[in-house]
Amino acid sequence: MGFGCSVTVLLVFCLWGVLISVSDSTRLGSSRQKLEVNKHLNRLNKAPIKTIESPDGDIIDCVPISKQPAFDHPFLKDHKIQMRPNFHPEGLFEENKFDENKAKSSTPINQLWHANGMCSEGTIPIRRTKEEDVLRASSVKRYGRKKHRSIPKPRSADPDLVNQSGHQHAIAYVEGEKFYGAKATINVWEPKIQQTNEFSLSQLWVLGGSFGQDLNSIEAGWQVSPDLYGDNNTRLFTYWTSDAYQATGCYNLLCSGFIQVSSNIAMGASISPISSYRDSQYDISILIWKDPKEGHWWMQFGNDGTVMGYWPSFLFSYLAESATMIEWGGEVVNSEPDGQHTSTQMGSGHFPEEGFGKASYFRNIQVVDSSNNLKAPKDLGTYTEYHNCYDVQTGSNGDWGHFFYYGGPGKNPNCQ
Ligand SMILES: *[C@@H]1O[C@H](CO)[C@@H](O)[C@H](O)[C@H]1NC(C)=O
Ligand SMILES: *[C@@H]1O[C@H](CO)[C@@H](O)[C@H](O)[C@H]1NC(C)=O
Repeated sequence: MGFGCSVTVLLVFCLWGVLISVSDSTRLGSSRQKLEVNKHLNRLNKAPIKTIESPDGDIIDCVPISKQPAFDHPFLKDHKIQMRPNFHPEGLFEENKFDENKAKSSTPINQLWHANGMCSEGTIPIRRTKEEDVLRASSVKRYGRKKHRSIPKPRSADPDLVNQSGHQHAIAYVEGEKFYGAKATINVWEPKIQQTNEFSLSQLWVLGGSFGQDLNSIEAGWQVSPDLYGDNNTRLFTYWTSDAYQATGCYNLLCSGFIQVSSNIAMGASISPISSYRDSQYDISILIWKDPKEGHWWMQFGNDGTVMGYWPSFLFSYLAESATMIEWGGEVVNSEPDGQHTSTQMGSGHFPEEGFGKASYFRNIQVVDSSNNLKAPKDLGTYTEYHNCYDVQTGSNGDWGHFFYYGGPGKNPNCQ
């Protein structure tokens, strides 16, 4: 099948070659682009042994675990895949000890495509990239990558940077120690996006290094991003970079890097159910930690603790050792359509003051220390560029440990 495919592809390439040589210069550009897009799709989409159509229009390919995009990386040619971590962080609020499932989310969070099938052991589910996905990006090279540095830098003394990037945040953070992981249970919503080139996400950041050109970052959470996915669904995502979003890294499995072992959860796939205002609340748990033995950064998703896979240590410089800062919270892009602040929502679209059932939250936020223990964050700071647009409020109690409410509506009488 692989051989047949490449013969077809070659033929198509040849035909395009003919087309290009006879067409005028304006056609040339678009043909070249099409060729480039198709080459990229061929690189990204691996031959599946089974395909599942999701109700939201996604195609999920079940790809043999050894054929996933990570293994296109030259450094991973001889990598022996690790099917499970050697160590798992331990601590106070671990799943079994804390009644997370009995909290407000007795319905387990699911992915929409599960309605139409599952991938078998030994394969991993990969959201297929379609031509229109790549065409929505500014260029083939930029597809699946963040546009530029958008990391919230607490206490930034550079207001120009804040205004230039258009990215706005409402976050809690810790710094000043060595961290080996982070955890949070994140309320799931579907914020409204005003413009397709904007997004709204809620995530945690595991950061290494200073905020320079070589910043290392591992990120995971949920996002609504019309440009990236072509719809307004809330999706699970990850991101990584080892040079402040310049040349390395990407979302999900859209480049070589993350090694997935889970056959259940697809990166970039829609999650459900979604919380409703003054009604049912749902949340997802995400844990990222560094395996003390091999040094890889592992990720676990869901209230049942599905181990998703890992970022190999060699992808990073600073994070090869440890993280220097952890951030949790929301981010939106304010593209200032019509010169006014965007009405793109963060979290539930409501301010923290409204509290449970109305405002979005992160609860049981914890960090992993050098002894591989989960513990409460010390000296939790908060940061937001314009608290009249999106805000954050921290607290702690016996049930939720350290938590915060965050988010907002964007444009409103106090935020124009
Ligand atoms: C951003 O720009 C606006 C208008 O140019 C200005 O009023 C505002 O103070 C700036 N914000 C910051 C944080 O510098
Ligand atoms: C996404 O939401 C915007 C408004 O928030 C709407 O205009 C657009 O049609 C929606 N897109 C899809 C694919 O549903």
